This record gives sequence, structure tokens and C-alpha cells, in this order.
Amino acid sequence: MVDDVSRILSGDIEDEADLVVDGSLRPRSLAEYIGQAEVKANLSVLLQAAKNRGEAADHILLYGPPGLGKTTLATIVARELGVNVRYTSGPAIERAGDLAAILTSLEERDVLFIDEVHRLNRAVEEILYPAMEDYALDVMIGKGPSARSLRLSLKPFTIVGATTRAGRISSPLRDRFGATYRLDFYADHELASIVRRSAEILGVTIDSAAVEAIARRGRGTPRIVNRLLKRVRDNAEVHGDGRVDEATARSAMRMMEIDDEGLDSADRKLLAAIVQKFASGPVGVAALAAVLSEETDTIEDVHEPFLLRLGFIDRTPQGRIATDLGRAHLSALGYEIPPPRRPDAGMPSLWDEPAEPSAPLDPDRSPATEA
Ligand code: ADE
Repeated sequence: MVDDVSRILSGDIEDEADLVVDGSLRPRSLAEYIGQAEVKANLSVLLQAAKNRGEAADHILLYGPPGLGKTTLATIVARELGVNVRYTSGPAIERAGDLAAILTSLEERDVLFIDEVHRLNRAVEEILYPAMEDYALDVMIGKGPSARSLRLSLKPFTIVGATTRAGRISSPLRDRFGATYRLDFYADHELASIVRRSAEILGVTIDSAAVEAIARRGRGTPRIVNRLLKRVRDNAEVHGDGRVDEATARSAMRMMEIDDEGLDSADRKLLAAIVQKFASGPVGVAALAAVLSEETDTIEDVHEPFLLRLGFIDRTPQGRIATDLGRAHLSALGYEIPPPRRPDAGMPSLWDEPAEPSAPLDPDRSPATEA
């Protein structure tokens, strides 16, 4: 039983490795947490009020792109409340009984973090509704005509659910979260503060220009700037005296194929595919996934949000398009840029001449794509 619960609790959490490796870099309190000012202010009131009343806090739903601090916030929620936190994920809870085992193992007012909460299956979700609403567990005893339902009470607890896309959560589940917060990409100055804090914890000497160079390429994401900082530090230790200046930082990031806007090779492949293989779009995500041999979820959750934020791509009812800005970025990196298929209605274009009527380019004859 204990083994079973611990499997479901720790088994499948996507960034469990990060949880351990980055443990020392994660802020431990709301006061230490940089950025997401509005979320912090709201959470702070919610937690303080629950604490004052001596009650479990309302269930909290956090959504937004990966790497922005959802797991960290769940840990902070528990610390601020002075209770334990258990970690699991939607796909790790396969059966209703799995969830029942977890819920009955929680102590009074504990926090249960469920990552990828949109991936809970129907049977499990149905156990969750009365559990979240009334701290009640409805179990079926027996089978067939003699089966009956028994209601057990649970100790009050708080679910912190996390998802990359709120739209994927069923509405009955979404309705049971008392508070929903959207995490947004971090501003460069917030990422710079995170880099400075992490450098101090890791004992890395780094100058301001290097901090800013890393922050600028961090894709608005703390997890990414912390990774970049560690790789830059490794480089400075192996090729220099361990101190990180702008030149060291830039050369390390060039080695990692991170460009000046923070795009990595997978982002550039996606953008280049839209531009070169689909004449800048519009193209559907399924076609892109097929061309790139990538999961559609990875494209939609990991790569697209940042390219959209930079204005390098756009989503239209017909599909994704590469913008002039996106094409200009690739062009500056030496990519060949075929003229776009769509005569951009109302949008200023780099290509004033009408483009050839365009079928998607034959991949075998397309200009250089990134290897
Ligand atoms: N490390 C990772 N995310 C952080 C954040 N939001 N604030 C401070 N340090 C962090």
C-alpha cells in the first residue's frame, strides 16, 4: 500500500529531476519568489486568510507554459501554510483506487500537487469532485445489484493543480478550484534578478553584462535561465578562471546553439519549417508535427508560446503563419527565405512583389533547412 502510494506520488512527475537538482535554487517563500507579482499578491491573501481561520486553503489551479514555477509555487503554498506537500501527476493516477489511496494518506490541511491535472482520466476525476467539494470519498462496495456506495470522510486538504493549458480541463473540474492563476512569461529584468540570486547560491562570480545576456536569452522562463547559468558556469570553469563575463556567457550560449533572441535549435526548426516547407503558412499543427517528428503537445506547449510572444509566428483560424519578424530573424541567421504563400492581407510585407502561386514546397527540393 505504502509502495503503491509512493509510486503514484513520485512516479511520473515530469520535472522530478529538476525538483531535486534545482532544489537549492528554488525560492522557498513568497517573499523570495521573484516575478508574477499579481499571482503572489492574490496567493498571499488566500493563504493568510486560510491560516488565520485554521482551515485548509481553497483548491488552487495554476496554468501557463512549462518552467514558470508552478511546482515551486505549490511547494511555497505548503510551506506558507506550515503543512506537507505531496507531488503527483494526472497520468500517474491510473485508477480511482490510486487517488483514494493518496487522499486517505494526507494529513490535515496538507497540499496535494497534481501536475498535468488535465490528464486525469474520467473515473479518477469523478472521485475527485466530492473529495474537493466535501472532503468525501465515495466508494462502491460489491458489484452488480447488491453494490452500494459508502461515503467516507477525508481530512481537509488543498489541491494545487497545474496545467499548461486551462482549456483542456473539464469544466466540472475547473469549477471546483476556488482560485485560478495564470503564470506569464517573466520580464527580462525579473529573469536578471533570478540569475543574480541563483549565481549567488551557486557561488558563481558573474558581471552585470553576463547576467543580462543570460536573462535576454532565457525565453521568459526561470528554469531556462537557471540551466543556462549552470552551463555557462561549467564553460567558465573549464575554459577560464571560473568568472563569468559577457564574452564567456555569449560563447557558451553559442555552443548551446541558443541565438540572440533565446531560440534554441528546436524553435528554429519549427520556424524554419513554417517558412521553408509551408511557404510561411498557414499550416496546421498536425502537419508541422509530422514534418518535425515532434509531438503536437510539445509544439503547442513548449515552442509556440514563446515564438508567439516574440511575434515570430501568429495563429490564424487557418493555422500558424510565420510573421515578417520571424522571417527576418531567420534571414539574419543566414536561412533562405522563400516568398510567403499568402499575400498578407493588410499586413506590411517584406515582399511587395506578388509571390508565385504556391503549393507547399517539396521537402526534398526545399532550400537549406537546419540539420
Ligand atoms: N528560481 C526559479 N524561479 C524563481 C523565482 N520565480 N524567483 C526566484 N528564484 C527562482
